Amino acid sequence: MTRLSNDSMPKSEALPVFDDLLSMQAQCAKWQSQGLRLALVPTMGALHEGHLSLVRLASQKADRVLVSIFVNPKQFAKGEDLGTYPRQLAKDKEKLSALTCHGIYAPDANAMYGEDFSTSIHVGIVSEGLCGASRPHFFGGVATVVAKLLNQLRPDMAVFGEKDFQQLLVIRRMVKDLDMGVEIIGGPIIREPDGLAMSSRNAYLNTSEREIAPQLNHILRAMAEKLRQGETIAATVETGQRKLIAAGFDKIDYLELRSEKNLAPLEDPLDATKSAEARLFGAVLLGKTRLIDNWKITD
Ligand code: PAJ
Repeated sequence: MTRLSNDSMPKSEALPVFDDLLSMQAQCAKWQSQGLRLALVPTMGALHEGHLSLVRLASQKADRVLVSIFVNPKQFAKGEDLGTYPRQLAKDKEKLSALTCHGIYAPDANAMYGEDFSTSIHVGIVSEGLCGASRPHFFGGVATVVAKLLNQLRPDMAVFGEKDFQQLLVIRRMVKDLDMGVEIIGGPIIREPDGLAMSSRNAYLNTSEREIAPQLNHILRAMAEKLRQGETIAATVETGQRKLIAAGFDKIDYLELRSEKNLAPLEDPLDATKSAEARLFGAVLLGKTRLIDNWKITD
């Protein structure tokens, strides 16, 4: 496998931004004709350490790394934050320029979805429940745009974060079911020092909300500990719900224990086999901000 030395890494001004599909595809074809393995890291921009960790992971596995930045209208419902979602391409470019990254693909929405665009990908089962229940439009929008990106750029691999664990499973399912022939790699959740999972939406939190926010993670961790000690799932979830409300969250969207293999709900008794694949999933509202997190109950 060819590897870039640090000396040949693109410097800040050298990191190309492609907003046009044909020139992006020409570049990908050139790399592929040279036998270079290409990794794609799909994002909606406003990049933070969580995104950057995926870029680092990609650069360990592939010869060329592309980051797509596209705030995908199809995964926002009316009334959600499409209009206010942070857009900061210049800052994102600066952050990526410090890493091994060889290009940014940043198409605009008209280029991505032509006037008569009418296809949507529905991935069953894993997209139902959890985020799929409260945001029924969401995974269809995600699957459709990710399928388009994979078809457009034909990477050898694509990297996604476990922060959006359900999304990762939806994409794995789609790629398998549709024989898309791309390796899907999952990267661990990157957190602030106080435990809050990094997210572009954390920028919406005001000072007092920011103080409450890490409690989501602390409460998931405490729940995992209770489950390891043998407390029932029902009792653990009930205590977790009470603690979330007491901590100051405005609404609990869901708080559930599921199998990380297929998101099937888990029931008592939680034996060793079930524990090994059990993961807690939580989504809450804090003011207008929706926060999600997940935590595996055993290491
Ligand atoms: P976005 O929220 O920008 O996230 C892009 C990628 O970064 C996703 O794979 C997400 O799981 C990962 N990520 C975000 N926060 C993370 C964290 N704290 N630690 C590790 N990884 C993290 O997810 C999307 O965009 C979109 O739905 C997308 C897949 C790009 C399709 O539009």
